[in-house]
Amino acid sequence: MTSAVQQIQDQVQRELNGAVTIVVLGASGDLAKKKTYPALFGLFKNGFLPSNTHIVGYARTQMTHNQYIERVTQYIKTPSEEDKIKLEQFIRITSYQAGQYDQADAWIQLNKVLEENEKSRQLSKRNRIYYMALPPSVFIPVAQGIKQYVYNPDAINRLVVEKPFGMDTESSNELGAALGALFKEEEIYRIDHYLGKEMVKNVMNLRFANIFFAHAWDRQFIDNVQITFKEPFGTEGRGGYFDDFGIIRDVMQNHLLQVLTLIAMERPISTSSEAIRDEKVKVLKCIQPIKMDNALLGQYVRDGDKPGYLEDDSLKNKDSQTPTFAALALFIDNERWEGVPFLLKAGKALNEAKVEVRIQFKNVAGNLYDDTARNELVIRIQPKESVYMKFNSKQPGLSYQTIQTDLDLSYHNRYTDLAIPDAYESLILDVLRNDHSNFVRDDELEASWKIFTPLLHAIDDPQQHVPLVTYPYGSRGPQELSDFVKKFGYDRSQHTSYAWPTQSMAQQNKL
Ligand code: BG6
Repeated sequence: MTSAVQQIQDQVQRELNGAVTIVVLGASGDLAKKKTYPALFGLFKNGFLPSNTHIVGYARTQMTHNQYIERVTQYIKTPSEEDKIKLEQFIRITSYQAGQYDQADAWIQLNKVLEENEKSRQLSKRNRIYYMALPPSVFIPVAQGIKQYVYNPDAINRLVVEKPFGMDTESSNELGAALGALFKEEEIYRIDHYLGKEMVKNVMNLRFANIFFAHAWDRQFIDNVQITFKEPFGTEGRGGYFDDFGIIRDVMQNHLLQVLTLIAMERPISTSSEAIRDEKVKVLKCIQPIKMDNALLGQYVRDGDKPGYLEDDSLKNKDSQTPTFAALALFIDNERWEGVPFLLKAGKALNEAKVEVRIQFKNVAGNLYDDTARNELVIRIQPKESVYMKFNSKQPGLSYQTIQTDLDLSYHNRYTDLAIPDAYESLILDVLRNDHSNFVRDDELEASWKIFTPLLHAIDDPQQHVPLVTYPYGSRGPQELSDFVKKFGYDRSQHTSYAWPTQSMAQQNKL
C-alpha cells in the first residue's frame, strides 16, 4: 500500500508531468529568504518537488550566483549531514537573474533564460509557477510583465500572490480587477499563510469529523468566541510599512478573519476547494460591518528600556494614531450565530507570543453545583499546537467538590517524532498539487473587506478622532480590555486551582 506521503508525491508528479520551473520574484527580499526558499528547500528535501524542478530567483539587485545562494540559504537549517548534502543538491537546481519590474526588455530576457534552461532540461511540458514575494506597489507591473512576456500558453502557469491585497474594499477590488484581467482565477493563488498552519488546517477536521461538537456548535450552546493574536515584540524596524496598515489590516482582516470563517462556516458539501470557499464566502456575507462601539483600539508606549511605538526610528509620522492593538466584536447574522460575539483581539508588544481560539460555552442551566466554571474549547494555534477542552469533574477522592480540569491534546506530548511543516511549505505544496482550498478566492476578499472598510476609514480620518488608548510594552494590552471582553459576555472566572497545562494530581489534591 502506498503511504500518504507517497500519494502526495505521486500527485505532484502527475499534476505537473514531473517538471516545473519556479520563478521567485523578489528573490533578494526578506520574505524570499525567510520563508519562500526555506519552504522550497523543505519540499525538496522531503521529495515533494517534481523530479525535474528548477528555481529561478528574479529581482532588481545585481548579484553574483554566490551572493544569491548566500542570501537565499541564510535561513535554511541543516542540522544533519544528510541535510547538508541535500542543500548542496538544492543549490544545483537554482539560479538567479537580475532585472527591473517595469521594463519589457528585462522580461524578454527572463523568458529567454527560462527557455534555455527548460531546453537544457529536455522538458516536454514547460510548466511555470510565478511566486510574487514582492511589495504591493509592483504587483501589477510584474503581473503584466509576466503575462505579456513570460507566460507560456502551452503549459501550466500559476501565479502566487501575497498580502496585502489592497487597503480597503475599493483598492482591493481595483487590484483584483487588474489581476483578473491578466490571469484566470484558477491560475491565481492568494496566500494567507495562516491557512497553512497545522491547527488552522485542523479546524475543519475537528468540527466535521466529530459528532460531539456538531450539535453544540451554535448560539444555543456557545456564549462567545475569542480569536487572539499576541506578539511579544513591537514593530521595530518595520514602522514604515506598519504605520500605513495598522494591526487591523496587518493580521485581523486576513489571518484572524480566516480563522473565524473556518470556525463559523456551515459544513461544505464536500472537501473540494470550491465547496469550502463557497461556504466561507456565505458566512462572511452574513457578518455586519464592525461598529465603532464594538472596537477598542490601542497603541503601545515605552516601558522601561522597551521603546514605545512612536519612538521607532523607522516611523515617519511621529504623531501617528495607527493602532498596534485592537479588540473587535463581530456578529454573524444567521440562524446559527445570531447574537454570539466573535471577539478578534490582536496586538504587538504584548506580554507573550500566542495565537488561539477560545470558544466559551454557556452556563449550565439549572446547575446542581456551586462554583462551576464555563466549558471552554481552546484551539492553540501557536506556539505548541494543542486542543483542549476545559470541563468540570468531581475532585478525585473523598471530596464531592466539582473542579475544573481538561481533556488535553497537546501535540508535543501526544505525538512522538512530531514534525510540523512550516505554513509556507504546506501552501507551496498545495500550489504544486493544484489545491486551492487554503487560498483566498476573489469574492472572499471582497466580502472580508466590506466588514472592515467603514471602521478603517473612520480610523484613517483624523477629523473623526477615533479613540485610541495606550498600553505599556510587554503588558497584556490596554487596561480597558477586561471590561471590553466582559461587555461581550466573556466570563474569565475559573476555578482557582486550575491552570493550563494541568498541574499534577498532587498539586490539585490539596483539599
Ligand atoms: C504577517 C504580519 O502577515 O504575519 C506580521 O505582517 C505578523 O506583522 C505575522 O508578525 C505573524 O505571522 P506568524 O506566522 O509569525 O504568526
